[in-house]
Amino acid sequence: MRRILAFTFFALLSMLCLVAAGRAWTGQVLGDPVRGGRIYDNWVSMTGRTVPETSHPLWDTQDSNRRTGAVTWLCTECHGWDYKGADGAYGMFSNHYTGFTGIMGMVGASQQDVLVWFNGTANTAHDFSSYFDATDVMDLVAFLRTRQIDTNLMIDQFTGRSLGDPQRGVDLYEGTCAECHGEDGARINFGTEDEPLFLADMTVVDPWRSVHKIRFGTPVSRLMPATEELGWSLGRVADVLAYAQTLQRANPSLRPFSAVATGPVLESQGRVAPLVWASVVLLLIVLAGAGYDYYQQRSLAARRPANGKPNRKH
Ligand code: HEC
Ligand code: HEC
Repeated sequence: MRRILAFTFFALLSMLCLVAAGRAWTGQVLGDPVRGGRIYDNWVSMTGRTVPETSHPLWDTQDSNRRTGAVTWLCTECHGWDYKGADGAYGMFSNHYTGFTGIMGMVGASQQDVLVWFNGTANTAHDFSSYFDATDVMDLVAFLRTRQIDTNLMIDQFTGRSLGDPQRGVDLYEGTCAECHGEDGARINFGTEDEPLFLADMTVVDPWRSVHKIRFGTPVSRLMPATEELGWSLGRVADVLAYAQTLQRANPSLRPFSAVATGPVLESQGRVAPLVWASVVLLLIVLAGAGYDYYQQRSLAARRPANGKPNRKH
């Protein structure tokens, strides 16, 4: 009897241990999601690998985005800085449009379901296994599963303006960013000597890219802090972004939604397509209105008796 009791007790205890371990195991996110965010930003510079001269194998499945070469290998060029692909800032009216999907579907997915996208199982043309080591993949997967956000929470998707409060951003900026970017945001020049670009230009023109870099840091310099590591809320990031957008511009003619290319070079982009469409729609509305008026007058004239007054039969 004692042996049976002892055995049952032991069996129960081991089961409990297993259950606890199982929970801990499945609940755990492996890898460093913040480093993963920088790999998403630019895996080529993060891993130090070189990419083939030719464009990424999936690149030629579209022909809207005419960039070629190294940039076609970057996650951001195909999936966007807002993780929404063709449903976001790189939509129809952007010159970065590819039609490719976003990656937000990976939020809440299992480790395995995300992994298959990088080892060729899900799509052989999307196989990155010869470029990433195990740590790179773990970090990237951790980012994809746990750190993506809906940027519409922080940025007005139509104007590109931060939804944060610039007043609340002042102290955050001066305390954490000014030492490198300068009080006016002009200390680091993101452009060239002839065509300078300051922090305000970058944050106004492509706030989605800015938010990603503020949250995860930049592959260019390990010194820039990642606010994800400083424990900042998204609200704080939106506030600091709002303030950065008010700082000194080097090139105020660059409008929001102008597209940011690979490096820090901004392409100024006349976004005429939306204007043309809007004009066509307006013209159609005016024409339809005029047509309707004409039709009404004709039918009124037809019903009008000789004395010129409308024919009322009540
Ligand atoms: C040349 C463009 C291109 C590049 C570069 C690229 N992808 Fe993709 N990615 C795609 C396309 C196209 C699909 C959809 C393929 C399919 O459905 O088979 C996809 C699918 C995905 C998916 C699955 C999305 C879903 O919800 O089904 C994830 C995750 C993903 N990519 C992440 C990344 C990451 C991270 C990188 C950078 C390491 C990257 N991709 C680089 C084009 C690209
Ligand atoms: C230790 C210095 C340092 C600090 C502190 C710092 N940054 Fe940076 N930041 C950099 C460097 C270096 C770059 C990359 C410059 C380049 O790409 O030429 C950069 C890049 C950026 C970019 C990317 C612009 C783009 O689109 O390429 C943004 C946005 C930015 N910083 C915002 C901030 C904000 C906001 C803070 C404060 C929360 C901050 N930085 C703190 C050094 C710093």
